[in-house]
This record gives sequence, C-alpha cells and structure tokens, in this order.
Amino acid sequence: MTDPVEHLRKTLANPVCLALDVPDWERGRFLLDLLEPRPGMVKIGPVLYMRESRRVNEWLEQTDRLVFLDFKWHDIPHTVAEAIRGIPGKAVRIFTVHAQGGAKMIAAAREAAERSGPERPLVVAVTLLTHLDQTELGKLGIDDRWNELRKLGSLALSSGADGLVMSPGDLVGARKEWGSTPFLLTPGIRFGAREGSGTPPDDQVLAETPESALKKGSDLLVVGRPILESPNPSGVLEELIRIARNSSFSG
Ligand code: C5P
Repeated sequence: MTDPVEHLRKTLANPVCLALDVPDWERGRFLLDLLEPRPGMVKIGPVLYMRESRRVNEWLEQTDRLVFLDFKWHDIPHTVAEAIRGIPGKAVRIFTVHAQGGAKMIAAAREAAERSGPERPLVVAVTLLTHLDQTELGKLGIDDRWNELRKLGSLALSSGADGLVMSPGDLVGARKEWGSTPFLLTPGIRFGAREGSGTPPDDQVLAETPESALKKGSDLLVVGRPILESPNPSGVLEELIRIARNSSFSG
C-alpha cells in the first residue's frame, strides 16, 4: 500500500488550503464555485459546521474536493474514534486532534482512520495554537515554547500521527527534529508578514509569508482571512499558487 502522506503530497494540485470560515453555506458554496484556480484543499471547521452541518454533510458525501476537517479533537479515545467513524463520505483527507490528548487518544484516532479504507485520512496533531503569545503560554505554565512543541510533536508522531500543525516559524526546528516524513501544515500565513517580527496580524501572533513557510518545509498553507476578506479572492489564490510554484523546500 502506498504511504498515505506521500500519496496526499502527490495528489494535491497545489499546497494551498482554503479555510472556509464563513458563516453560511450560500457564501461557502459561492466561494467554492467562484475560486479559479481551485485551492488544493478546503478546510471545514466549526465556524461553518455549527451553522450548516446538514448541508456540509451532504456536500461531504458527494464532493470531489479534498477536504481537511479541522475540529481539533481532544477527548477520551473512544469518543474521538467514534467521531472519526462518523465522518461522512470519502472526501476528508486530513483531520486534526490535539497532541495534548495523549498517546492513547492519538493511537485510537489513527486506528479509526485506518478503518476508513485504503485512501485513509491523515491524522494531524495540533501542537500549540498559533494565537498563543508568550504571556498566554506563561499562564499555561509553558516557559519554553519550542521545548513544549517538540515534546508534543514527538509524542504525537510516535503515537500514530502522520503530521503536525504549527506556525511557520517552527518549521525549521521541526524539519531538523523529525525530517521530511511528517506532513506539516501551517496556518498563520500573511502576505507582508516580516519573518520573526511578531507583529500581531489579526489573532495570529506568529505569522509569516507564504514564500517563507514553503521554503522552510510546509506541506500545506492553511489560509483563511487573506482570501476570504479580499475583494479579489481568486487573485489571492492565484498569487499563492504562483508563489508555491517558485518556492520549494530548501532543506
Ligand atoms: O484566517 P486565517 O488565515 O488566520 O485562518 C487560519 C485557519 O487555520 C483558521 O481556520 C484556524 O482555525 C486554523 N488554525 C490555526 N492555528 C492552528 C490550527 C488551525 O489558525 N494551530
């Protein structure tokens, strides 16, 4: 059987995932039909799902898009596994769990993913959310961000996760630590973000440019507001895809 991570890397038309964080299905559907070129993946999360679960589920049953289901599950293993078994259709190719759910929860998620058939979704673990700045982390008892991320990432990958979500600034350390195998996803993508500037764009405190994230080894740029809030969403997508063609991982 082909390795699911390599298979997804090869299947993706481009490494851009549109975060469809819109409040209603009409808007979501409109954007999906409008965007040309198509994003490599579409991310569905709680913003849309809580309002439109019925229509999203119907769409999941029949769409030919590749879908990233981002619920960041963090619960007891049985509950997480049952949630995964309930995913409708075959379109979902990535789902997220929190690394903090621990080894058993991640292993249960992986087992549930494997039961879904040969083109199984990747289990991707969230390490530290990208809105957490040092003050917030301090309140959680985390003094050394990278150390915490490394601990969580190693735990997740050795328990069955196929990849990790992280901010672009952590990619260099991550590729050094875990090599080229894990599928690494990066939100926190902003045009014009300065590397390491820490300038808070929206609530993403560790944003970087698409070019920088791809050169540092991101497999998938998860982009919401820069596309959704643009007067020319297709233009933004086109620009991201153009950048992706010219920015390969420099190792
Ligand atoms: O609008 P923006 O481009 O910031 O969207 C980023 C997307 O990535 C959002 O849907 C958010 O839920 C998601 N995400 C994130 N940080 C993580 C994991 C996912 O921002 N650690």
